[in-house]
Amino acid sequence: MDKFIIKGGKRLEGEVNVSAAKNSVLPILAATILNGNNCTVENTPMLEDVFVICDVLKSLRADINIDKVNKRVKINTANIFANGANDELVRKMRASFLIMGPMLGRFGSFKISLPGGCNIGTRPIDLHLKGLSALGAEVSVGHGYVEAKAKKLIGSNIYLDYPSVGATENIMMAATLAQGETIIGNAAEEPEIVDLAIFLRAMGAKIDGEGTDTIRILGVKDFKEVVHKPIYDRIEAGTFMITAAITKSLIKINGVDEIHSKPIIAKLTEMGVAIEINKNSVIVDGRQKLNPIDLKTMPYPGFPTDMQAQMMSLLCTVKGTSIITETIFENRFMHAVELKRMGANIKIDGRSAVIEGIDTFTGSEVTATDLRAGAALVLAGLTAEGTTAIKDIYHIDRGYVSIEKKLRGLGADIERVHYDK
Ligand code: UD1
Repeated sequence: MDKFIIKGGKRLEGEVNVSAAKNSVLPILAATILNGNNCTVENTPMLEDVFVICDVLKSLRADINIDKVNKRVKINTANIFANGANDELVRKMRASFLIMGPMLGRFGSFKISLPGGCNIGTRPIDLHLKGLSALGAEVSVGHGYVEAKAKKLIGSNIYLDYPSVGATENIMMAATLAQGETIIGNAAEEPEIVDLAIFLRAMGAKIDGEGTDTIRILGVKDFKEVVHKPIYDRIEAGTFMITAAITKSLIKINGVDEIHSKPIIAKLTEMGVAIEINKNSVIVDGRQKLNPIDLKTMPYPGFPTDMQAQMMSLLCTVKGTSIITETIFENRFMHAVELKRMGANIKIDGRSAVIEGIDTFTGSEVTATDLRAGAALVLAGLTAEGTTAIKDIYHIDRGYVSIEKKLRGLGADIERVHYDK
């Protein structure tokens, strides 16, 4: 096992590069199942979650080449099997369930283990299944598996009870090979959905409306070769913006799409962080006195739940009272317990956290309980007095490419240390 040792309190400076979005790349890699031709994803973030989805595809006998040096993944799914994917891999990562829609679309039937994932709530899949049923699939759940079968998928009018990102993606992918038109109402509008639509369109799918709450997909018969470069990771970009704010530093962040990052930039600006926006980059100046704020996580274009934990670390260091309301996941305050070990003053009341700013975090031994909780602890450690040790950082490796190297490039004192559990 690895842990991070961080000696806090250093001012940082310089530039950091954001990788491509994990949450774009995972559905895009799943979508290659629909296409029997060569698919290439450029600038792929070399992350644990990406390796897991590649392993899931390999367990279906996809031909995959991962070029770590050039950050390129080449996939050919011409010879994949309709047999089940490796159960252990599927349970390891919730996003593995994104192969359901494409497998059903291509083979007309698929059985898969119920998904696992981050420990941040119950995370049902009912919306995915309702959507696939609406396309004509017969869906059954039992003994830890989901099975879907359809003689033919038929385009349909689907209205989601909630704009689920994963359900929108699964339905979009299945619908590309359905007969006729599918309309997804109350669809998720996240930038990663738009990126998936761009990928699908490049390989020959007929889709429009992505990025709005109504997506239309006209089924086609087959696809062609595709090369795609995914969008930047807006959550990694936001994490580095908070790095500047929490360490009271001036940092340039390369690989930022202003529109995708607007909800994060707006909240940081409201706090008093100075952010200069340039083409594909921002300069974040966190040297001013910051103000407490209230924030609520919402589906895009609201404030992302994947930035809630990092924002909590920052608000802990801002004098006054801030309130965070988490509306997306019911159990996403695990990081508060760990931040309290570092001296934070946080009270949780249901879906809200009331945060009283403290003078400074104190270095402690803490545990990353999930991916973004881990990032929040790194941020706290960077500004803490003394040394912070963060265990279980495999969670962080799932979603941040070499975070310690990128932070060291900015002057942080952070080391990865191996230990025996
Ligand atoms: C995706 C992201 C994740 C992010 C989340 C919300 C990926 C790989 N992961 O996860 O990082 O935190 O969006 O922005 O892109 N729900 C149901 N029934 C369903 C599906 C979802 O009730 O069938 C609920 C979930 O429990 C949750 C909410 O809807 O409360 C949002 O989930 P969803 O948008 O589906 O998130 P994911 O796609 O799992």
